[in-house]
Amino acid sequence: MAGDELLYELKNVGFHYPSGEQALESVDLTINRGEKVVLLGANGSGKSTLLKLLSGLLYAEEGTVKFLGQSLDEESLSNEEFSFAFRRRVGFVFQNSDAQLFNSNVWEEIAFGPVQLGLDSEQVRGRVESMLHLLEIEHLRNRPPFKLSGGERKKVALASVLSVNPEVLLLDEPTMALDPRTQGWLVEMLIELNRTGKTIITATHDLAIVPVIADKMFVFNEEHRVVAEGEPVELLADYDLLASVNLIDRTFHEHRHPKYAHLHAH
Ligand SMILES: Nc1ncnc2c1ncn2[C@@H]1O[C@H](COP(=O)(O)OP(=O)(O)O)[C@@H](O)[C@H]1O
Ligand SMILES: [Mg+2]
Repeated sequence: MAGDELLYELKNVGFHYPSGEQALESVDLTINRGEKVVLLGANGSGKSTLLKLLSGLLYAEEGTVKFLGQSLDEESLSNEEFSFAFRRRVGFVFQNSDAQLFNSNVWEEIAFGPVQLGLDSEQVRGRVESMLHLLEIEHLRNRPPFKLSGGERKKVALASVLSVNPEVLLLDEPTMALDPRTQGWLVEMLIELNRTGKTIITATHDLAIVPVIADKMFVFNEEHRVVAEGEPVELLADYDLLASVNLIDRTFHEHRHPKYAHLHAH
C-alpha cells in the first residue's frame, strides 16, 4: 500500500546537457514511499534524464532533489558512504539492457550486486537462485547475456537489479521492444513487486500500460515541464492534454473514434 511518507521531493529542478540541450525545466514533484508512479511524455521530453537524477547518476543544476529529506547533489553523492547506502536502496533498470549487462554469464551477472554488498558465498548463491526462480530464467543461468533475446536480457537486467533488494525501482521504457506476452509478464511482475512494498517509478510513452502500473502519473510536455499530475485514468481520458504533449494525434484519434469527436470541438 502506498503510504504517505515522502520519498522524493523535487523543487524547481532544471537540467541541461553540456551540449546545451535543455532536458528538464522547473520540475516540481513528490513521490511517496510505496507508490506506483509513471512519468509520461513524448520522446525527448526529459523522462530518462529525470530517472538519472532520481538514481543519482546526474544531479540537478537548478533546484533540489531530495531523497528521504537528504539532498542528492555533487557533495552528498561524492561521499562514498552515503552514495553506497543510497545506491543499494535505489535500483535502475536501463532502457537498453546491453548498457547494463557486462558479465560473462547470467549467474555472474545476478551475483555481481550481492557480492558488492559483501554477502558470503552461500548468501550470494541463495540470492541468485531465488532471482533465477522469480524471473523464470533458471534455464539461462550459464548463458552469456549478449547472446540472449531482448526479452531474456530484460529479465536478466531486472534480476541483477532486484538481487540487491532495492526498495525503489526505476524503470526506463521497460516494455519497449518486448513481445506482448513478455510485456504482460513484466507488468504483472511490477505490480507484484509494488505489493511487496517497493516504490515503482516507470518512464514510458506506452499509454496502454499506464493505468495498470501507476496510481499516480506526471505528464511532461515537449518543453520538459510537468504539465499535469494525477490519476492515470482521469488524465488518459483528457485527449486535449495528450494531444498537446504529442502523445496522441487528435485527427487520427477522432477518425478512429468518431463518436467522441464532438466532445472535443475545434
Ligand atoms: N546525453 C545527452 N547529451 C545531450 N543531450 C541529451 C542527452 N540525453 C538526452 N538529451 C536531450 O535532453 C532532452 C531530454 O531527453 P531524455 O531525458 O532522454 O528524454 P526522454 O527520455 O523523455 O525521451 C532531449 O532534448 C534530448 O535530446
Ligand atoms: Mg528516454
